[in-house]
Amino acid sequence: MRTLEIPTGGRLPVLGLGTWRLGEDPAQRRAEVAAVRSAIAMGYRLIDTAEMYGEGGAEEVVGQAIAEALRAGDVTREQLLVVSKVYPHNASRKGTPAACARSLARLGLDRIDLYLLHWRGEHPLSETCEAMRQLVADGRIAHWGVSNFDTDDMEDLAAVCGEPLDCAANQVYYSMSERGPEFSLLPWQRQRGMPMMAYSPIDQGALAGDAALGKMARRLDVTAAQLALAWVIAQPGVTAIPKAGREAHLRENLAAADLQLSADDLAEIDRMHPPPRRKKPLAMI
Ligand SMILES: NC(=O)c1ccc[n+]([C@@H]2O[C@H](COP(=O)([O-])OP(=O)(O)OC[C@H]3O[C@@H](n4cnc5c(N)ncnc54)[C@H](OP(=O)(O)O)[C@@H]3O)[C@@H](O)[C@H]2O)c1
Repeated sequence: MRTLEIPTGGRLPVLGLGTWRLGEDPAQRRAEVAAVRSAIAMGYRLIDTAEMYGEGGAEEVVGQAIAEALRAGDVTREQLLVVSKVYPHNASRKGTPAACARSLARLGLDRIDLYLLHWRGEHPLSETCEAMRQLVADGRIAHWGVSNFDTDDMEDLAAVCGEPLDCAANQVYYSMSERGPEFSLLPWQRQRGMPMMAYSPIDQGALAGDAALGKMARRLDVTAAQLALAWVIAQPGVTAIPKAGREAHLRENLAAADLQLSADDLAEIDRMHPPPRRKKPLAMI
């Protein structure tokens, strides 16, 4: 799979697995672990989770699936890239390492590959930045980044942490139907070689049922969800983390990473979902 370089060294695959809403219901635990395990077996290498998802439950599901995959020899730890996120209310100088330690315990890992501030909260960015850098120095995380940061938040972060900024990525809501980040945020990140991780890239499943997109997808012999994913990762500097529980969806989404859209296809999508003409605040789900 194609990968993107991150400013702090290392690379991110252009497509990974989302895990929001996992770990909420103990009755679903076995099926969820099996789904993540099967995703790893079929080739997913980046898994996105957060302490918020299922209040730690999703990290436990991911941890169990990784442990089983490692035991089975499906993958090595070095091949996997685990992303997790700290709640804003925990992101203080002392709270960040404590939250990270809890996430590591639930994941059963000794390192998180990319640790993000989930969204901007009440703690000063200077404290979060300092704590993140200390976690990198201590080897508890390999890279740190942010999520739901708009252009002005990134400017504030750069002012507080200094440039060149060692923030590895910004994860935001970005899909064919939510193209706001293209106006100023994506150019800002591209200028610094900082990947944008697109969350909800199929609009929580809605784009899979979009009639116009479906029509175009049938002509290209793909599905609407695949077209939505292929489009988002065709944007330079963008990776996507679709969530899928169903085996068929997992396979379909993974295959989308290899689809090539022509200039005509991209122009057709622009007509369906035009790029933004002015700045609007970053959307959040
Ligand atoms: N940083 C943040 O604030 C933030 C916010 C939201 C999300 N995220 C991350 O981004 C990930 C993805 O976003 P998301 O979960 O909101 O939405 P999404 O990935 O756009 O959509 C997930 C939904 O689409 C369905 N789906 C997946 N593949 C499909 C396919 N090929 N055909 C038809 N339906 C398909 C899934 O169904 P099945 O599960 O039944 O297969 C699920 O209901 C999250 O899981 C989370 O890791 C981060």
